[in-house]
Amino acid sequence: PTEETLVLVKPDGVARGLTGAILARIEAKGYALVDIRLVEPDRATLEKHYAEHEGKPFYEPLLEFMMSGPSVAIRLAGNRVIEGFRSLAGTTDPTTAAPGTIRGDFGRDWGLKVQQNLVHGSDSPESAARELAIWF
Ligand code: CMP
Repeated sequence: PTEETLVLVKPDGVARGLTGAILARIEAKGYALVDIRLVEPDRATLEKHYAEHEGKPFYEPLLEFMMSGPSVAIRLAGNRVIEGFRSLAGTTDPTTAAPGTIRGDFGRDWGLKVQQNLVHGSDSPESAARELAIWF
């Protein structure tokens, strides 16, 4: 069954001019762009999006990072798109994400308190529904 997911090109991806390269990989894989917008989220939006990480050591740096510049939010659709996009993105830590993935090819550790890993993708149908309602 066709499902939807939330993809974010995070501020590091937008600032580095990688939005087009990331979209090209998503489109080449065959997923459908249903909606797309440039967003500068406020703190309340990010607190909702990252509620599960509240209290973790990287939580404040994460919110600061996500408020450092615009992100591109994408409503993406396709059969098994949730796991498919996460496979395209690669694992969370860009240093060790597999080459061939977005994080593995374009990401690295910059020595900061938060992992700047270029993209976000929802991790389950429940997360996707919750996160899409926050960003769209
Ligand atoms: P994301 O998948 O958007 O969700 C949580 C984010 O927190 C994650 O991407 C990274 O940007 C960041 N993050 C997750 N784990 C760590 C960690 N151990 N140290 C620093 N940042 C992290």
